[in-house]
Amino acid sequence: MKKFSIKIVDPNSKKEIDLNKVFENKFFNEIPDLFIEDGNSLTNTQSDFYNDVKFPNYDDVDDFGSLLDKSRKSVFGKKLDDEIPMRTNILEAGCGTGQMSIALSRYGRQVYGIDLSKGSLIEAKKFISSNNIKSVHLFRMNIFKLFFEENTFDIVISNGVLHHTYNPKLAFSKLVKVLKPGGIIVIGLYHKYGRIIQKMRQGLIRVFGDNLKFLDKRFREKISYKKKYAWFLDQYKNPSETTHTYSQVLNWFNDENIEFLSSIPFDFNLDKKLFQKNEIKNSFEIFLDEVSLTLNPRQISEGGFFVMIGKKKNK
Ligand SMILES: C[S@@+](CC[C@H](N)C(=O)[O-])C[C@H]1O[C@@H](n2cnc3c(N)ncnc32)[C@H](O)[C@@H]1O
Repeated sequence: MKKFSIKIVDPNSKKEIDLNKVFENKFFNEIPDLFIEDGNSLTNTQSDFYNDVKFPNYDDVDDFGSLLDKSRKSVFGKKLDDEIPMRTNILEAGCGTGQMSIALSRYGRQVYGIDLSKGSLIEAKKFISSNNIKSVHLFRMNIFKLFFEENTFDIVISNGVLHHTYNPKLAFSKLVKVLKPGGIIVIGLYHKYGRIIQKMRQGLIRVFGDNLKFLDKRFREKISYKKKYAWFLDQYKNPSETTHTYSQVLNWFNDENIEFLSSIPFDFNLDKKLFQKNEIKNSFEIFLDEVSLTLNPRQISEGGFFVMIGKKKNK
C-alpha cells in the first residue's frame, strides 16, 4: 500500500485510519473512495453531473510534456509553479481530471487531488499511470467531509469549485482548517459582474437551444470533442452555480483568519508575484473595478472568473 506524506483521518472520530483495513472494498481504479454525504442533496447531484462531465478533460494527444507546456503558457499556472516552494504538501480541492495537480507535481512536491467525480478521477488516474507520475495522490472525497487533520497542507488550491457547492463560504472554511498557519490558499470563483455576459449566453441557449453554442468561442477552437463536451455542459447545463465578489471573499478571509495577498485580475501585474502582499483596495475603488469586469473582453471569453490568494495567519 502506498505511503503518504500526510495522515488520513476519519472526519468524525479524528482518528488516523488505515485505508487498507477500513476501506478495503472501497477503491475504484486504485483510487480510495472516501466520499461521505454531507446532508445536502446538491453534493450528490454535482457528484452525478461531474461523473459524466469529466472536466476539463484532455486533448487526444496530451502527455506529461504537453500538459506542462500548456500549464506554463497560462500565466496563472506558470506563476503558481514558480512560486510554490519545493517539497511542499499541496491540496487541490475539486481537481477534476487532474491537470493542475499534475502540473504542480514536480520538485519534490506531493499533491493531493480530491474530487467528487469518479469519472474525472479515473481520467486523471489514467494519465498519471501512463506517465508514471508518483507524486499525485487521488481520492474521491467531499470538501465538506475532509479526511485530513487540521493544519496539514502548505498550499490549498480550489479553482472553479466552491461556486458549485451548496455553501461556498462553509466549503472555504473547511479548506482553511486543513491549511497550515503560514500556508497559502488560492481560490478561483465566478465573478458577479464578470459573468453577466456569460449569464446572457446561458439564457439565449436555454431559450433558443443548443445550436446557439457557436456564441461561445470554445466551440470555434481546436480542442478535442471531449473538452468541448465538458466545457458546454459545465458552462451551460450546470445544476448550480453562484457568483461572488472581491469584497465578499475579503470578508470570508477576515472571518477565517486569512491575510489577503493578491487577486487576479484586480491587482494582477506580470512583474509581480502572486504570493506578494498587496494593499486592500478601498471599497469605492474596488466597486468600480468590479463593475467594469462586466465588459472586460477577457472576462467575457473566459466566462467571468477571478482568483483570491491569502495566507493563514499564525494565531
Ligand atoms: C468546474 S470543475 C473544476 C475542475 C478543476 N478545478 C479545473 O479548474 O479544471 C468543478 C469540480 O469540482 C468538483 N466538486 C464540486 N463539489 C465538490 C465537493 N463538495 N467536493 C469535492 N469536489 C467537488 C466537481 O466534481 C468538479 O470536478
